[in-house]
Amino acid sequence: MAPGAPEVDRAPRLVRDRPALAAVRAALPGPVGLVPTMGALHAGHRALIERARRECASVVVSIFVNPTQFGPGEDYERYPRALDADLRVCEASGVDVVFAPDAATIYPAGFSTSVDPGPLGTVLEGAARPGHFRGVATVVTILFGLVRPDRAYFGQKDGQQAVVVDRVVRDLGLPVDLVVVPTVRDADGLALSSRNAYLGEDERRAAPVLHRALQAAAGDHARGERDAARLRARMQAVLAAEPLARPDYVSVADGLTLEELDVVSGPALLSLAVRFPSARLIDCWPLA
Ligand code: PAJ
Repeated sequence: MAPGAPEVDRAPRLVRDRPALAAVRAALPGPVGLVPTMGALHAGHRALIERARRECASVVVSIFVNPTQFGPGEDYERYPRALDADLRVCEASGVDVVFAPDAATIYPAGFSTSVDPGPLGTVLEGAARPGHFRGVATVVTILFGLVRPDRAYFGQKDGQQAVVVDRVVRDLGLPVDLVVVPTVRDADGLALSSRNAYLGEDERRAAPVLHRALQAAAGDHARGERDAARLRARMQAVLAAEPLARPDYVSVADGLTLEELDVVSGPALLSLAVRFPSARLIDCWPLA
């Protein structure tokens, strides 16, 4: 660049099919970082991208609303899609490559393999959304195979997803290092999520109750409470005070196996799912 010339963001390469991705990938300097997303990018996704940018020579963002992780009657059709805006976010964050395939590219005719994460995929979100984590594990494994990243970045926001993907990587011996990035929240504590866009004004005002419930239980834990039933009851009590919130589950689970605990004696995960009239929200909080 000429001295004094204004710095301009370089637009990321947009690739949409497997051969184009393979060609672009072959020329990328390593280490290569992958940030898998379903698009509608917000500051939570940006935190993952920025972390990858700091740690990797090349950054690939995938944008794919994965049909196999949505159940019948879920929001696959109405899930927000905003490729132009997403490309601008990627450009401003210095992303090198955006991989935005269509469903036939990821699941070509004759596709028949799936990755089933076993019991980890049938508790919590997996119990509420049967098959969800098989869909997640399968698409993430495909993306790892196509992009061949050295590192892949996931959000703590979807705590169970990070645990499931970590298990898949270890069980299958996939050559990728996972990085889990802390949850980005609005000032009132609500974890950023593409689904927050579904909330009406009253629901949006009520939604920080998830974070308040987690904070209450995490505070009790910090003060020495180790009885998991009492921690669950604490979260339920906070949620019960919010009339628009209908709790789906509250959980205090082992941080690795996700089995429900009686006593918290090591790394654990507080998590909850709450139905509002227009959206179902999840949040979680790791306990060291
Ligand atoms: P998506 O919901 O788009 O999220 C992509 C990544 O961003 C996930 O790792 C998620 O945990 C992370 N993320 C979302 N909100 C966040 C927040 N507020 N703070 C920090 N990280 C946040 O998760 C998926 O897509 C899909 O299941 C996917 C992994 C792409 C597979 O289809």
